[in-house]
Amino acid sequence: MAAGRRSATGDGAGVTAGLPLPLDELPTPALLVDRVRMEANLTAMAGSIGEAGVALRPHFKTSKCLAVARRQLAHGATGFTCATPAEVALLQNAGIKDILWAHQPVGPAKVAFAVEAVARGGLTIALDSVEVAQPLSEAAAKAGVTVPFALEVDTGLHRAGVDPDKAVATVAALTSMPALELRGVLTHEGHVAKHGSDRAGLEAAGDLAGRTLAQVAEALRADGHECPLVSVGSTPAATSAPFADGVTEARPGTYVYFDANQVGLGSARIEQCAQTVLARVVSAQRPGTVIIDAGIKAMSSDSMATAGILGIVCDASGAPLDGITFANGNEEHGYLTGPGTASLRVGDLLRIIPNHACGTTNMWSFLHFVENGRAVERHPIEARH
Ligand SMILES: Cc1ncc(COP(=O)(O)O)c(C=O)c1O
Repeated sequence: MAAGRRSATGDGAGVTAGLPLPLDELPTPALLVDRVRMEANLTAMAGSIGEAGVALRPHFKTSKCLAVARRQLAHGATGFTCATPAEVALLQNAGIKDILWAHQPVGPAKVAFAVEAVARGGLTIALDSVEVAQPLSEAAAKAGVTVPFALEVDTGLHRAGVDPDKAVATVAALTSMPALELRGVLTHEGHVAKHGSDRAGLEAAGDLAGRTLAQVAEALRADGHECPLVSVGSTPAATSAPFADGVTEARPGTYVYFDANQVGLGSARIEQCAQTVLARVVSAQRPGTVIIDAGIKAMSSDSMATAGILGIVCDASGAPLDGITFANGNEEHGYLTGPGTASLRVGDLLRIIPNHACGTTNMWSFLHFVENGRAVERHPIEARH
């Protein structure tokens, strides 16, 4: 797990050989990103986070694509959030200096990677316990490196993160260790999704998460710590949590593409979804069902909070089709059902909006940027599992 692992592309430059191509001439299935929609999403989020008056640090897991990251930087991102060492290494190798690794580095390989990556500069690591911090602190001290860390706080998701009332004691323990330096606090308020399409309930939960995190930062300051970073992060709560007083940065990820799940949560309209899987009808043997060449290895099997089915079925232009459900998937076969399938024929081209953009990204080695119904650039997706 070397921090120096090289990106296949280095600078995120795309491949245009053989392009542009009409969608009809692309091999299926293929992963598409509508560039106009993506740019609109980037503009809108930059505007909204700008209104909140906080920094924008998108989560890189949604695209794992340097070309997309470059567009996020062009729209004012101050840095990126990562989940995995491979994502951190990819961005560091591309020259990105301000990275928050929002995952606990546990185990010898990740600890060694963390120390090496911190030594390269600009990396802050999430920590939430003495058990995680101790081996990291020891390895960093041995290497003569100081690790900037952010305390992960649980504001309701109940995943990683300390309870708010344990933050002061935990930071006291962590800052008493050699080689650890507090930069601030972070939370991932993903629990707001449990409000489903109840947008008011979701917004209130996001606001509460932001206020809770800001209170934790105040408590740490009252205990004598500097706490410049107060970082919230999610797409559904991007309209609420970053607006709470005291929050300093927002880390939405999915917003770059949106997805069926975000449509269900009221975070986006279908027309804003930029990522689609291009597929063809390959079999139509039984009335009421057609089979496409995109199954769970194209879509991921992530059904997520509200979408349920495997994705929203659209025509080749990206317009949703009525009366068609993506009911099930085998590895390379998708089952479309419902009365709308009666008009589908073998060879028809479809586009599917995935339930969860980030899970779908991880299934693919390349994406195509699409404009005016044509694939115009091809870019690698890297740092996949
Ligand atoms: C730590 C962290 N920050 C930010 C995000 C971004 O949230 P979203 O995918 O809702 O944009 C996630 C998503 O899983 C996350 O885990």
